[in-house]
Amino acid sequence: MSHYHLACTECHESHDADVYTLACRKCSAPLEVAYSDKDVGLSPLHDPDKALTLGEGNTPVIELPRIARSLGVGAIFAKLEYANPTGSFKDRGTAVMIGVMREHGVTELVEDSSGNAGASASAYCARAGITGHIFAPATAPAAKLAQIRVYGATLHAIPGPREAATEAAEAFQKEHGFPYASHNLSPYFIEGTKLFAIEAAMQLGESLPVHVVMPVGNGSLFIGSYKGFNELVQAEQLKAVPKLHAVQSMAAMGVVAAHRGEQWTPSGKKTIAGGISSVAPPRKNEMVRVLKNSGGSGVAVEDEDIVHWQRELAEQEGVYAEPTSAAAFAGIVALVQQGVLDSKSAVLVPITGSGLKDEPPAAL
Ligand SMILES: Cc1ncc(COP(=O)(O)O)c(C=O)c1O
Ligand SMILES: [Zn+2]
Repeated sequence: MSHYHLACTECHESHDADVYTLACRKCSAPLEVAYSDKDVGLSPLHDPDKALTLGEGNTPVIELPRIARSLGVGAIFAKLEYANPTGSFKDRGTAVMIGVMREHGVTELVEDSSGNAGASASAYCARAGITGHIFAPATAPAAKLAQIRVYGATLHAIPGPREAATEAAEAFQKEHGFPYASHNLSPYFIEGTKLFAIEAAMQLGESLPVHVVMPVGNGSLFIGSYKGFNELVQAEQLKAVPKLHAVQSMAAMGVVAAHRGEQWTPSGKKTIAGGISSVAPPRKNEMVRVLKNSGGSGVAVEDEDIVHWQRELAEQEGVYAEPTSAAAFAGIVALVQQGVLDSKSAVLVPITGSGLKDEPPAAL
């Protein structure tokens, strides 16, 4: 008997837990892990003592007083997710997802990524003794492609947009029958990212801000954070889930548009924020529900503002974030303009990925 099942995020149909079921058999929507017990930080692993780990999590929180002043908000608490073993928050989700796969006896798997999740999957595959096939856009930053290769996974560099890598991974997975360790579809990935929220609440205690602002692509950190905060509220360890605000790029703003009740179709425009260049996120409805249920706002930002705040973060605070992560700060500007945030607001921001993993900012 498992201590959880996989529940459909739309029709709630229950599915037995395995590593192959990635969509509801009734309505095709994505699945989530539903535990028989209500507790904080539960794991889908059956033997958590033998968890797959590279030392992810327990990332530091630092204040960014100069940036807070520049942005016109009261305080910014940055949780340094780039301090994870492969340089991004993805390690939290990958550790759990690939850990579950290892428990199921998986020896070979397929994953697709804009770069960071692939690098993370390659590292945890190495650690678990699993052969990884990682599909990524051929145009992904060179440091990310090299990182995927260095841990020994086979890199399948796919020409064309981000979606082409997903299509190629799905075709390869069907052809070979390996499990598809998709960080966007796997219900297990979110069980790792939820720990970001639980940890932040524990670290900050009474100082946990009412506002959390993060870059949102396929939503694994956004949805996971909601789940983590919600587990704390259910266990009466937190009064209320903070307002979770989503920042997207103008080039991929489907969640922001859907939350406003607007239609949005991709224009083919590119963005420097590769991690949030997702034009068709499978968990879009869930993200819109997180915005609604937490009272958050969605904003879309321009590349030039992303680059500006990437430089400001580095110069003013010594924090070198990748453009995707810096998008959160361009988003704070918009949230201040809209009156959602003001000079009294405290904000929690994950610095989701390291600047060392992306192309250096222009003019350096
Ligand atoms: C650095 C960074 N931040 C944020 C994101 C967005 O995460 P998600 O797609 O889970 O919303 C990504 C995704 O690749 C990323 O690489
Ligand atoms: Zn369903």
